[in-house]
Amino acid sequence: MKFEVLTIFPEIIECYIKHGVVGKALNKGIAEVKIYNLRDFTSDKHKKVDDYPYGGGAGMVMQIEPFYKAIMHVKEDKKPKKLLLLSPQGRKFMQKLAQEFIEENKGMVLICGRYEGIDERVKAFVDEEVSVGDYVLSGGELAALVIIDSIVRLIPGALGDELSAVEDSFMKGLLDYPHYTRPEDFKGMKVPEVLLSGDHKKIALWRKRQALKNTLKNRPDLLKNLSRDDMKILKELC
Ligand code: ADE
Repeated sequence: MKFEVLTIFPEIIECYIKHGVVGKALNKGIAEVKIYNLRDFTSDKHKKVDDYPYGGGAGMVMQIEPFYKAIMHVKEDKKPKKLLLLSPQGRKFMQKLAQEFIEENKGMVLICGRYEGIDERVKAFVDEEVSVGDYVLSGGELAALVIIDSIVRLIPGALGDELSAVEDSFMKGLLDYPHYTRPEDFKGMKVPEVLLSGDHKKIALWRKRQALKNTLKNRPDLLKNLSRDDMKILKELC
């Protein structure tokens, strides 16, 4: 899967993608990230990308020209691509959307804005505006990395253990269950007995109960479409 990122801060993206799951996926060749510096698509000698807002007001606005030129450039290869503009005004990015994107199996172009905003007319050249949450970041780079990371995890072969992505929070509509590793006893805080029992059926049931408990406590909004079995367990917990 190929990701292309348009940004004025290529270093932010370059640094993150070298590490962890994304870094490994790039090394294995199952994902590719190409970064374009929007300043390379300016026509003035100072490589200026922003200007004062029409109508006045605080801050600067990113100009359309570098975005337009960079978008035309990434479209030159005529390959199917989804062009996403990262912005707090966009559709909320969630695990379901990550799955949808991976199923579409198109390249992704992640367009990062900065400053107070970008010229509204850029939107005419993108497929969708996407937000990673109801908060304002200083730019789209962190949002682009959130999207790249969460999608790369879903590419077959990206995770060491194929089951890991399925076990992730949200994949089964619930928050994750608790995890433990050695030592068995840390300053009197003991690993739950059941995890040492070797009884896989019991362990699976305990994990399901814990996942339901976590979800009930922190994200009750996710409990709407529970299966009958899960509903039964949840009732026992209440
Ligand atoms: N740029 C600034 N804030 C953002 C957000 N919440 N999501 C995506 N891009 C952004």
